[in-house]
Amino acid sequence: MALPRLVLGVESSCDEMAAAVVRDGTDVLASRVRSQLELHRPYGGVVPELASRDHVRSVSQVVRAALEEAGVGERDLDAVAVTMGPGLLGSLLVGLSFAKALAYRLGIPVVGVHHLAGHLAAAELAAPGLTRPYVGLVVSGGHTALYRVEDLASPKLLGETADDAVGEAFDKVAKLLGLPYPGGPALAKLAEAGREDAFALPRPRQHEPGYDFSYSGLKTAVARLVRAHEPLADATRADIAASFQAAATDVLVAKARRAVADEGLARLVVVGGVAANRRLRERVAAAAERDGFSATFPPPALCTDNAAMVAAAGARSLAAGERHDLDLTAFSRLPLDPGPA
Ligand code: KG4
Ligand code: ZN
Repeated sequence: MALPRLVLGVESSCDEMAAAVVRDGTDVLASRVRSQLELHRPYGGVVPELASRDHVRSVSQVVRAALEEAGVGERDLDAVAVTMGPGLLGSLLVGLSFAKALAYRLGIPVVGVHHLAGHLAAAELAAPGLTRPYVGLVVSGGHTALYRVEDLASPKLLGETADDAVGEAFDKVAKLLGLPYPGGPALAKLAEAGREDAFALPRPRQHEPGYDFSYSGLKTAVARLVRAHEPLADATRADIAASFQAAATDVLVAKARRAVADEGLARLVVVGGVAANRRLRERVAAAAERDGFSATFPPPALCTDNAAMVAAAGARSLAAGERHDLDLTAFSRLPLDPGPA
């Protein structure tokens, strides 16, 4: 079935309210993201109750702004795609309720999208010629996982983190180094001034068979290092940032590379907020060149949470005949690969 022409995407799984209009599953006509950084900064992390209340206030404005930017009237829309999980339940319900009401009013289909299927679809938006199957490395604040992707809605899980997600580790280490929330991008910036071989940090599970990850031990090793060097000189902070970033990303590159070879595939896609990390992008590109596979990253704005990826994933599942009715609900936990039935 052909991809639906105009899909509105709505994403509100965490602390961003996002809306986008995507044409034919490939052209991003508009993508608006309203961040709540200022709201949560004083608390050093996302406060769920504040997040959902702010979403209630902003959802209609953000959707309206996306439609205006796209030059599209709501009557022109063919479908609404919305993130149904995983994420913060209160936040998810705001986007979901809005999307269902809009679809009902317009008499068009609504389709629920898994947040990680959305992240994967961002790579397909960025590289329209990309064909499945491929290995998908999903690296975000909540997830670190490798999938074999034949079908966006039901990829096969190869391995995932046993504890912290890699983005979470970036955020926690940034906090240890006294950087403001959210720490990932700030830590990456600080690392540019440091030497990545200054401190030998563990690369957890890098040489273990399988594709599972673990980031809590690395975070603890950094905490010990910070304590041993307090008060931290600026150069030491930068060296710790660079050494941590190298350890955290080396493991991702090693496992992704092995997965591509073991699965006998020629393509890797790297998605999620941490896919915006420059060192990770460089190292993956170098490994791809050496091993002879192609590596695709969405542009940074499509790596972090956005609604264009949700519209793109929704367009694909609608084309595959998937529909949801108004009973569609949100799930705080929702595996992308539910495993053997
Ligand atoms: O995908 P995302 O926007 O939200 C989730 O679904 O979690 O990912 C956010 C995560 C945060 O942990 C953030 O610190 C991290 O991605 N991040 C980065 C960079 N940009 C965002 N981590 C390392 N380097 C970056 N440049
Ligand atoms: Zn995300």
